[in-house]
Amino acid sequence: MKAIVYTEYGAPDVLHMQEVVTPTPKENEILVRVHAAPVNFGDLLARDFASVSPGEFNMPALLWLPSRLIFGWNKPRKLILGSEFSGEVEAIGSAVTRCKPGDAVYGYTGQAMGAYAEYLCIAEDKAIARKPANMTHAEAATVPYGAIMARNLLAKANIQPGQKVLINGASGSIGAAAVQLARHAGAEVTGVCSTRRLEYVEALGADTVIDYKVEEFTANGETYDLIFDVLGRSSFGKCAGSLKPGGIYLLASFKSNALWQMLRTSLGGDKKVICALASEQPGDLDFVRELIEAGQYKAIVDKCFPLDEAAAAHRYVEDGLKQGAVVIGVAPNGRE
Ligand SMILES: NC(=O)c1ccc[n+]([C@@H]2O[C@H](COP(=O)([O-])OP(=O)(O)OC[C@H]3O[C@@H](n4cnc5c(N)ncnc54)[C@H](OP(=O)(O)O)[C@@H]3O)[C@@H](O)[C@H]2O)c1
Repeated sequence: MKAIVYTEYGAPDVLHMQEVVTPTPKENEILVRVHAAPVNFGDLLARDFASVSPGEFNMPALLWLPSRLIFGWNKPRKLILGSEFSGEVEAIGSAVTRCKPGDAVYGYTGQAMGAYAEYLCIAEDKAIARKPANMTHAEAATVPYGAIMARNLLAKANIQPGQKVLINGASGSIGAAAVQLARHAGAEVTGVCSTRRLEYVEALGADTVIDYKVEEFTANGETYDLIFDVLGRSSFGKCAGSLKPGGIYLLASFKSNALWQMLRTSLGGDKKVICALASEQPGDLDFVRELIEAGQYKAIVDKCFPLDEAAAAHRYVEDGLKQGAVVIGVAPNGRE
């Protein structure tokens, strides 16, 4: 099969198309013919992880070492990137009961990666589900990672209808999902992003959008029940005044000092800091598919590149050009 392979860390040009052996499903695995796989944060990080110092790493420096070992010290260990996909079941292992060849599916492979290829194998008890019927493969492929992370992180804050929620980093994969899931929970949602992505975040359904290039959300006098900072670019010190009594400051990316703040605020005080790591839960993708099919959750694709232009797709994202998701169409109809 054809796959986008990288054997050394570096700039987008390390990605190249190569013939590799098509995987064979084990008895509990599903062989998926991939139609589309987006470029997400994890792909960019894994591709050039050697250039990320412990200080630049967006998690506590202590986690940098195990991450570097998982990604590969001198060269990458997983040679095919791509952690989310949409496609069609090609074959199933003898013990698989949840799907059959020909079914349209979407899913998330996490650190196993492997979606920048014509075929991938995934165990049936992992994050794979029937694809939303009203989305193209390109659209559906952009949903799993952001939706799984946002759903499981927002669960820590237990949003109630009518609450005011601010999402900082609303134009990214997790932020875009968080805007939509918080709206679905009945919250009034403010999305914070840069100027070029204001329309995108508005189109996702945010009630209010704030351009952080022209306005500091902590200085406008508004208060929120939840401030969810995906990239951890703000701080609890700055945001505390923008939280209502009992408010929560939730972080998807955090350093050690935020962990101390979480400990301190858990021991007393009205406003809480929560730093959390998300992992997929059974039913995440079925839940989101139902929202999508009910017209309550959307995916907005900016641009679709063919498989042999994966490097150009990475460059487009790294150059800050995307206004929505960027997808690699693996099968010829991956764009459909
Ligand atoms: N806790 C967990 O379990 C978990 C799991 C997965 C990922 N993560 C973390 O989540 C982060 C990646 O999130 P993602 O996948 O959504 O990333 P992404 O798709 O790359 O999006 C990041 C967004 O952040 C925005 N941004 C950049 N600078 C900003 C600033 N100063 N203020 C506000 N927004 C800014 C960018 O858009 P604009 O240009 O519009 O601002 C971009 O759209 C990483 O830090 C990763 O470590 C955490």
